[in-house]
Amino acid sequence: MKGIILAGGTGTRLRPLTSIVNKHLLPVGKYPMIHYAMMQMVEAGIEQVLLIIGKQSAGLYADYIGSGQSWGLQVRFGIQEEAGGIAQALGLAEAFVHPGDKLMVLLGDNLFQDTLREAVQAFAISGQGAHVFLKQVEDPCRYGVAELAAGRITRIVEKPEQPPSGYAVTGAYLYDSTVFDIIRTLQPSERGELEITDVNNAYASQGLLAYSVVEGWWIDAGTHRSLLEAGIRLLGEES
Ligand code: G1P
Repeated sequence: MKGIILAGGTGTRLRPLTSIVNKHLLPVGKYPMIHYAMMQMVEAGIEQVLLIIGKQSAGLYADYIGSGQSWGLQVRFGIQEEAGGIAQALGLAEAFVHPGDKLMVLLGDNLFQDTLREAVQAFAISGQGAHVFLKQVEDPCRYGVAELAAGRITRIVEKPEQPPSGYAVTGAYLYDSTVFDIIRTLQPSERGELEITDVNNAYASQGLLAYSVVEGWWIDAGTHRSLLEAGIRLLGEES
């Protein structure tokens, strides 16, 4: 199982902070945000990680993470030249992945109270297709939302006005190496990006999208308010 952390993007919702430093280096509790994604990889049992960043703050990432050895990880870096969507960033990882490898993909701004280890290890042994992690939320319109029927995800709707359920799709995904074939078939969405939701829907339409529900808290720290909430929660747990 290989790990891919996606930490590019422009962080527009966190301006002006992100005008001077990349979003995933902003402080959350005692650490820069990216620390928690690294820890999630460690806890999930991943040993090799590709960290995809933008050009902004690239030197600071090298300063903080180096080779990854202080986490016990082997870390490589990839650069996303321009923000083209989560699926476009993931496509950059193809050379890092061998046929037959499985992947844990994590958005660097997604913070989880709990380790995702159990599902990751199960997928490593017998997973096929894709697996997403859902969380019941009060404001599903901010996220990709799962439509569920008979215990399956029938499709995911990105930022729906009328959500088909209260289950948001969090930013942690498990894939087999067919994900790169799917990414090659994608067309840009209305916002001009290759959408991870389109990748997941391709698996759903083949009956190959499994899920589990996250029990502990989950925060997408992409706004000022959620960044503050994440800091308060994680500082509380660390002190
Ligand atoms: C992305 C995904 C969305 C997902 C969210 C989780 O949205 O497109 O499906 O629910 O991450 O954080 P973004 O935050 O890039 O708008």
